[in-house]
Amino acid sequence: MLLTITNLNQAYEQSRTLWDLNLNIESGNCMGLIGRNGVGKTTFLSCVMGLIKPTSGMIQYRDVDLIKTPPEARAALGIGYVPQGRMIFPLLTVEENLRIGLGALDGNHVSVPEQVFDLFPALKTMLKRLGGDLSGGQQQQLAIGRALVLEPKLLILDEPTEGIQPSIIKEIGNVIKQLNSEFGMTVLIVEQKLPFVRNVCDRFCIMDKGKNVAEGGMADLSDDLVRSFLSV
Ligand SMILES: Nc1ncnc2c1ncn2[C@@H]1O[C@H](COP(=O)(O)OP(=O)(O)OP(=O)(O)O)[C@@H](O)[C@H]1O
Ligand SMILES: [Mg+2]
Repeated sequence: MLLTITNLNQAYEQSRTLWDLNLNIESGNCMGLIGRNGVGKTTFLSCVMGLIKPTSGMIQYRDVDLIKTPPEARAALGIGYVPQGRMIFPLLTVEENLRIGLGALDGNHVSVPEQVFDLFPALKTMLKRLGGDLSGGQQQQLAIGRALVLEPKLLILDEPTEGIQPSIIKEIGNVIKQLNSEFGMTVLIVEQKLPFVRNVCDRFCIMDKGKNVAEGGMADLSDDLVRSFLSV
């Protein structure tokens, strides 16, 4: 197992968000984590990334206890993260934004790998442009590119299609599929758009009120499950 989540609990002050969440991700999976607004998806990813502390439970990545690992050590462990809302630096150039991803320099990576530009050729033509001057879709590509510069084993994306036009959504979907199937990258995507999840992922997990309420291969994502846990 690449990532093992066991009985994870979290609360913001008095407000409990995660309730004994369990989830396993095998090496090579492309997992779509779905669920209505506010059920705790981003909170869960923030726990995995060490940005917030769970109240109890375990997060194991390979043989590493992530809860005891400082957040800045995750990139070097092979975990790439694309946060919700992209969080690129608007006043830095595209090139500088990408180089920020190299921050956790491990000696092998002194420059942005050419693969990032193979995947997102548009970025190469905009290296000197300010991040803030890119379109939303281009910023998302930049955020994904930044997460890829250290060639992660596990790529975690939080709503990569939010507020993005269909043509770029399709491109992003193709890149994720390619990373998973050709380069063997394990992927965990939080996503609200079901057609995207069905197209890109091979497994799903449904979160409701901070719990894993259903999971399986994509073919098992039934209309009943969608009605019960995803329809608004
Ligand atoms: N920093 C915070 N302080 C207090 N409550 C928070 C904080 N961040 C999130 N919450 C609350 O925790 C709950 C879960 O939020 P979270 O952002 O994890 O949900 P989500 O499933 O990612 O939602 P969305 O699909 O809208 O992104 C929500 O009720 C939210 O209001
Ligand atoms: Mg969220």
